[in-house]
This record gives sequence, structure tokens and C-alpha cells, in this order.
Amino acid sequence: MVEEVDEGKPPREDNQADEQPRRLLIRQLALQTAAVFLALSLAWPFYFLRATEWNWAAVSAATGAIAFLFARLSRQQWWWQLIHLLFVPLLWIGLQFNISPLWYLGAFMLLLLIFRGAATGQIPLYLSGENAAKRLHPLLAEGSALLDVGAGIASLLLPLAKMRPDLSLAGIDNAPLPWFVGWLRTRNTRIGWFWGDFWKHSLAPYQVVYCFLSPAPMRALWAKACREMTPGSLFISNAFPVDDATEEAEIMEDAESGLVLYLYKIRGEGES
Ligand SMILES: C[S@@+](CC[C@H](N)C(=O)[O-])C[C@H]1O[C@@H](n2cnc3c(N)ncnc32)[C@H](O)[C@@H]1O
Repeated sequence: MVEEVDEGKPPREDNQADEQPRRLLIRQLALQTAAVFLALSLAWPFYFLRATEWNWAAVSAATGAIAFLFARLSRQQWWWQLIHLLFVPLLWIGLQFNISPLWYLGAFMLLLLIFRGAATGQIPLYLSGENAAKRLHPLLAEGSALLDVGAGIASLLLPLAKMRPDLSLAGIDNAPLPWFVGWLRTRNTRIGWFWGDFWKHSLAPYQVVYCFLSPAPMRALWAKACREMTPGSLFISNAFPVDDATEEAEIMEDAESGLVLYLYKIRGEGES
């Protein structure tokens, strides 16, 4: 059984992982706020001089267009551009239906229960599945202990447990709903299922750490793996490489499914 460790304050790199999404969120908020201000300051003289009623549908559409333009000019990712384009117009449409605010609150709570990782660490929920388990299992030494950091609903661990009964498998997640579904699915298996933040979970007991996260935490997670895992252990990332350790990666690509695994060996001191 692996103990949860409370390392107190996360190490510096891990703090940086928290910082990055916060800064990104502030940038998007600033962008949207600037668009609202610009749209209102153009609309106010327009309607004032004409002495007509405000056309809020037009104002919200213009706000969306300005926000989209700002997002494009500042080269935000395409999905942010889309969010900026649609945010105010959808808000306006939503207000036309007189829907009780409780529905919005309920929808927000549900999304938070499922996508907590996206809100707090820029790590959304998407799943590996059986194909990744198939590619992964020949790489694993007999009897090794593997941890899936951010294990979702155990969609990697369950097929892996069937393919390799010799492995000691564990997963950790901090999004309430996926964790609960994972707990239900793993409760009668030999998979260790932990609730909590993987930044506070020691990687020392594992010979293999697997992750399928996002580009955001990779640098800090690799640093944590190097600090805690024993030399010779494997750090495997599905889809997202570690920028700092590009040359160290062994890359396994499956052309058929598009799956790409990045394999890193933990080095001992003085090893290059
Ligand atoms: C892309 S999913 C991968 C799920 C699973 N590993 C798989 O391959 O099918 C990433 C998961 O990481 C979880 N996660 C994000 N940040 C986390 C954190 N700090 N601690 C624990 N889990 C986290 C999310 O809740 C999400 O379920």
C-alpha cells in the first residue's frame, strides 16, 4: 500500500505549474473586459446621439466580434478565440429565456465536479483506453509498480490490469466525479485508487509513472519525477513531451491510432 505524503508547500516548479493557468486566465479575463469596455464606449455615443433605444443583440454581437479580434491579434489558441467570440452573445441569448440562475449554478457545479483539473491546472479530462494499454504493456518490466497520475476513470488501468496481472497498479485523481466513477470501477480489483492532488503524492514507490495530461504541467512533473523516482525508473507521457528533456525521450508512435508515447528514463546522479 502506498502512503499519501503531505509535502507541505509544493516545490518551486510545482508552484510554477499553478501560476501558469492563473496568468492565462487573467489574460483572457483582461481581453474580454477590454472588449466589453470598447464595445460599450462605442455604443454609448452611437445610441446617445441618435436618441434611440440600445439594441443589446447588436451590442453583444459587436462585443463578441471585438473580443475575437483581440484574441486573434494577441494570438490566443483557437479555442480561446472561439470562446471570446461566443461568450457575450451566448450570455445575451441565455438572458432572453428567463432561466432560473439555479440552473446555471447547477451546470457550473457539475462541470467543476468533472473538469476540476481543467479549472485548476489546465488539465482537462480525456481518456487513454485500451489501445494505450496495449502499446504500454510490453514496455513494463515483470512485477513493476505503475502509477497513473491523473487517472480519470481508470480507463488505462483496468485494461492494463487484465493484460498484466503481475503489475502492481495504482491511480490518483482529484476531480470528484471521475474519481468516484474510477473508484466504482476499481473497487473489486487489485488497483490502488487514491483521491487527491498528484503534486502531493510521492512517486518514490513506483518504477513506472504514466501520465496523459496537457503541456502545462509537464516540466514541473518531470522535475518531481527526477527528484523522487529511483534511477532506472520510467516516466511515460502520452501525447505531451517534456520540453526540457527533448533529447532524452524515446518516442513510440502508432501510426494507425495516432498514439504517441514519450518515454524517459530517470537518471542517477552523474549519469548523462
Ligand atoms: C487527460 S485525463 C487522463 C485520464 C487517464 N490518465 C487516462 O489516461 O485515461 C487527466 C486527469 O488528470 C486529473 N488531474 C488534473 N490535475 C490533477 C491533480 N493535480 N491531481 C490529481 N489529478 C489531476 C484530471 O481530473 C483528469 O481526470
